[in-house]
Amino acid sequence: MSRILITSALPYINGIKHLGNLAGSMLPADVFARFKRAQGHEVLYICATDEHGTPAELAAAAAGQDVRTYCDEQHEIQKRAGEAFGLSYDWFGRSSNEPNRRLTQHFAKVLEEKGLIEERVDRMIYSVDDARFLPDRYVEGTCPHCGHVGARGDQCDNCGRLLDPTDLIDPYSSVSGSKNLEVRDTRHLYLLQTKVEQPIRDWIGTRADWQTLARSIAYKHLDEGLIDRGITRDLKWGVPVVGPDGGPRPGLEGKVFYVWFDAPIEYIGATEEWAEATGRTWRDWWRTDEGADDVRYVQFMGKDNVAFHT
Ligand code: MF3
Ligand code: ZN
Repeated sequence: MSRILITSALPYINGIKHLGNLAGSMLPADVFARFKRAQGHEVLYICATDEHGTPAELAAAAAGQDVRTYCDEQHEIQKRAGEAFGLSYDWFGRSSNEPNRRLTQHFAKVLEEKGLIEERVDRMIYSVDDARFLPDRYVEGTCPHCGHVGARGDQCDNCGRLLDPTDLIDPYSSVSGSKNLEVRDTRHLYLLQTKVEQPIRDWIGTRADWQTLARSIAYKHLDEGLIDRGITRDLKWGVPVVGPDGGPRPGLEGKVFYVWFDAPIEYIGATEEWAEATGRTWRDWWRTDEGADDVRYVQFMGKDNVAFHT
């Protein structure tokens, strides 16, 4: 009899369009959870909606709803769908809930104290008429590679190339259509992944329990070389970047963490939600120094999620 913690990749809040998440990671996690329970093990199976980021903001705008209302509704729909399919998770949380906000800010603080996060100045597109910066797909224009009209700031759907918003020719705001755009300096937080390349490689080497495929995908990314990544965005919806006093951080007012920074932390946040709702404790499922040393943790996810989870 052992304790087994199971998570399946968190479905995007605007992702109910197809059964990919369900078949790809929730169903196998559910089968595994049921099997382990039937064997008599103590199982905790956690999932949640992944609610932040530009796709959520844009989907809400397309639905004519404010993003909070949109996410409240979509979360209920996804939760009911999971229940209707008989998924046996112990908790279906939300990355926009308080525990994840607190934990995300905590992790960022600790990483910065350890010298693994730093502030940098970026040149980004600012829309004068919208009075905001335009991250990722908030700006559209003509692809500099193939001439496709209507390429998004992060990627051209025609030729598939990844773009930087400042690469676009004749850029315009996808919020308002305005062409009154400027390139302005703005501060962002960067996760210094170049500093942790070797420790991560060493750590993966110690994980004898990893699947061969997951390990080789992780090594492939490391072999290609990690880059320092911007982990903040100019969005209203997300986990706010805060200063030491918990208030807005000078120079980074109005910034939130990038969705891929807060989403994996929600595995822990959702466990905290479960613990609060059921009167249980969560730290002994996650912290080896607080009783989790006998927990076996098994993650289910699609191949393209391996890098972020590693
Ligand atoms: N929403 C992501 C996807 O569907 C998965 C997020 S998993 C998490 O690809 F752990 F990061 F939350
Ligand atoms: Zn193109």
